[in-house]
Amino acid sequence: MSTVMKTAVYIFVAATVFLAVAACNGTAEIGEVPPDAVCSSIVNAKCVRCHYKTRICDALGTKSVGKWKKSINFMIKQGADLTQDEQNKVIACLSSLPKGSELVCD
Ligand code: HEC
Repeated sequence: MSTVMKTAVYIFVAATVFLAVAACNGTAEIGEVPPDAVCSSIVNAKCVRCHYKTRICDALGTKSVGKWKKSINFMIKQGADLTQDEQNKVIACLSSLPKGSELVCD
């Protein structure tokens, strides 16, 4: 194999591995965890219409980013009204908050 071919194969493999890792990681696409005030304002504005925050509090610390995405999609199917940006933010918040966090559990 020529050096050029070897380099091309190497780059292809490296790119594939990188994309696979990025896809599994999930946090890459939802972005940084927003400040506490942003997290609590989205929860207070969008998540208490149908159930108490205790529902959300109980789930803290039990779900990965992927599971929170599924939960939020479920809420949207029930009629929750969140922009794509708010969804990403609230998923980043909820997947990073510790169990019992007073942002959600007070
Ligand atoms: C339009 C109504 C509605 C809104 C708004 C809503 N939910 Fe829910 N949510 C539901 C219903 C209905 C259930 C109960 C499903 C069940 O009985 O398990 C539920 C259950 C839950 C649960 C427990 C089940 C699970 O998936 O772990 C969590 C956590 C939750 N909601 C989080 C949220 C968050 C976070 C928001 C705001 C982004 C939100 N909900 C907004 C309707 C809603």
